[in-house]
Amino acid sequence: MEYPFICPKCKRKMTLEGKSYYCPERHCFDLAKSGYVNLVLANCKHSAEPGDNKEMILARVNVMQNGYYDSLADCIVEILKGHQHDTVADVGCGVGSLTSRVKKAFPDCRLIGSDISKNAADAAAKLCKEVPFCVASSNALPLESESQDALLCAFAPVFAEEFLRVLRPDGIFIRVVPDTMHLFRLKEQLYATPRPNERDVDEPQGFTKIETRFVADDFTAYGETVSSLVKMTPYYYHTSKEDLARLFAKESLTTNRAFEVRVYKKIPS
Ligand SMILES: C[S@@+](CC[C@H](N)C(=O)[O-])C[C@H]1O[C@@H](n2cnc3c(N)ncnc32)[C@H](O)[C@@H]1O
Ligand SMILES: [Zn+2]
Repeated sequence: MEYPFICPKCKRKMTLEGKSYYCPERHCFDLAKSGYVNLVLANCKHSAEPGDNKEMILARVNVMQNGYYDSLADCIVEILKGHQHDTVADVGCGVGSLTSRVKKAFPDCRLIGSDISKNAADAAAKLCKEVPFCVASSNALPLESESQDALLCAFAPVFAEEFLRVLRPDGIFIRVVPDTMHLFRLKEQLYATPRPNERDVDEPQGFTKIETRFVADDFTAYGETVSSLVKMTPYYYHTSKEDLARLFAKESLTTNRAFEVRVYKKIPS
């Protein structure tokens, strides 16, 4: 089997020998116990533990395992069905919830997941053993140029130049952003006069949009998932202790999801 990662030092293709990746120059990167590989070079790290912390990761895993992404995952799979998808990278993949859904839909797809957070890559590797996950920043992906049929970037930072590099000339870039009404029903329970989210108007340079889909429906969280859901949102940090306690005491909480899924192609150079 062909292994997908290139060496972050010399940029040459690596092979997996036992529990380590080696490049032809014998630079070596060991697999962690859960199976992910850390491909961030020590001199490229900007903070001791970049990305989401453990509490946020646990909250995310709990919510995802309770169906939070079902309708979004179905939408992404539908989009991929209409395009070549032999090689797909989920960049900023978090705990691998969407990655694992893509792998289930397309078992033969050579899929990888990458995230800047070790905790996220660890959780993703535990969730989906069939996919190689790595720790890497999306602005320096350990992937060969023009190697990917599709890139998926859901609620994670976009680095257009790097994404253009790794995508095949006719590859697609699927970007998911929260829609203006995302979680509005939760905000209604927190604020006297809730406002819609600001619309994300950033368009990645060098790409042209070929399609936009909207995914919107209601979602009910039960038991422990209520607090996990709130912890996953920015409102957790902007809500008083009393209001949080009131929310966390609920046996169930119904809110709405609203996602915008944008599909881009490269503008030919
Ligand atoms: C809101 S989460 C979304 C995770 C996943 N795509 C999902 O939909 O569940 C954003 C993720 O982006 C990751 N992230 C932030 N900056 C990054 C970067 N420069 N490169 C790669 N991942 C990054 C975070 O660690 C986090 O896991
Ligand atoms: Zn090397």
